[in-house]
Amino acid sequence: MTTLLITGGAGFIGTNFVRFVRRVRPGWHLINLDLLTYAGNPENLADLAGDPRYTFVQGDIADWPTVSSLFAAHPIRRVVHLAAETHVDRSILDPGVFVRTNVVGTFNLLEAARQAWKDLPEDAGCRFLHVSTDEVYGSLGSEDPPCSESSPYAPSSPYSASKAAADWLARSYFKTYGFPVLITNCSNNYGPYQFPEKLIPFALCQALEGKPVPIYGAGGNIRDWLYVEDHCAALLEVLERGRLGETYNIGANQQRTNLELVRLLLQILAEMRPDLGNRQSLITFVPDRPGHDWRYALNTQKIADTLGWRPRVTLEEGLKRTVAWYLEHQDWLERVRTGEYRRFLETQYGQAVVQEKEPACGGG
Ligand code: NAD
Ligand code: DAU
Repeated sequence: MTTLLITGGAGFIGTNFVRFVRRVRPGWHLINLDLLTYAGNPENLADLAGDPRYTFVQGDIADWPTVSSLFAAHPIRRVVHLAAETHVDRSILDPGVFVRTNVVGTFNLLEAARQAWKDLPEDAGCRFLHVSTDEVYGSLGSEDPPCSESSPYAPSSPYSASKAAADWLARSYFKTYGFPVLITNCSNNYGPYQFPEKLIPFALCQALEGKPVPIYGAGGNIRDWLYVEDHCAALLEVLERGRLGETYNIGANQQRTNLELVRLLLQILAEMRPDLGNRQSLITFVPDRPGHDWRYALNTQKIADTLGWRPRVTLEEGLKRTVAWYLEHQDWLERVRTGEYRRFLETQYGQAVVQEKEPACGGG
């Protein structure tokens, strides 16, 4: 039986990935190592609690004894490493934890796996997938060609710099030790279970409550939006069939400005909840994010040509599924919006965004 360690499995992509692998590889034993920070939610996978092929371990990847003892206790042969601090705005407010988790945590996992696997025969099939981001390539201008896997790294934020450092550690383990690592760099994900600090679920929450939907700067920044289930399928392809030591870009080729994206999201919300009326007037321009990257775009030819992976879900379809999920899970949203979350919003956006707009705007 394949034993797969998933780190960060109680977060957004992790929850979707655990569910996806459970469905398509039902015989695998899945071990989910997650610290349950503000972004991790055990409730997401509560229905797997009695499953003998699912083990949840609450622990910190930056803590060496936790990580090394896990490899001693289980015959882990595959790793999908998702655990990270992930929100760019939080990395600007408090960068230290990003270095600890994203750099030291990744080092611990690489080193524990290297020590556990170094004397195993090649046919043991050990593979370590380090999941990273398109942000490591830095900001593109509107007309620049998309980044390929060999584009230079130029991270801008403490978040992307910490992910870049982790990527280079992973690359060094392949070059130095022949360690069986694979790296993926993916564009912006959206879909069910995303914590409502990220643009799409946050804008949706604000709109549902008739509060301002804040857009940084003039809303011209461009992101490429991938439905999370497409990302999960790509990760499994790379884990199983990717070439060791290689990097694979994963993207949707669905670039939109933030303003275009939020307008589309609010239009879909209005179609699904006509009783709310038109909420476009909630869009509010707020001061820009420091060091805000203008545009990310990925060339995804490599994964298409070598592994046959392509995104399946269009942006419109993915947004409809996402809005439907959040509308059906408003109790989930309520429970994750804790005191810590509300304090973060106040620090990040100030009172004006946290409070309801005047009824004339909110009822729109
Ligand atoms: P998330 O913030 O939703 O979840 C992160 C998870 O990691 C949480 O469950 C949290 O509890 C856990 N975690 C944090 N610190 C930990 C620690 N020290 N030890 C153990 N667990 C810890 O993140 P996400 O959006 O699901 O992203 C997952 C991964 O994918 C990250 O590595 C991120 O860099 C990468 N990624 C995300 C996106 C995106 O758009 N969300 C795009 C490309 C790459
Ligand atoms: O590109 C992949 C990355 O995408 C991941 O590696 C990160 O973990 C993930 O957080 C995401 O980073 P972004 O900074 O692109 O995502 P975020 O949802 O925070 O913001 C998307 C865009 O929207 C960005 O240009 C900033 C802008 N924005 C965001 C928020 C939260 C706003 O205009 N207003 C907001 O309130």
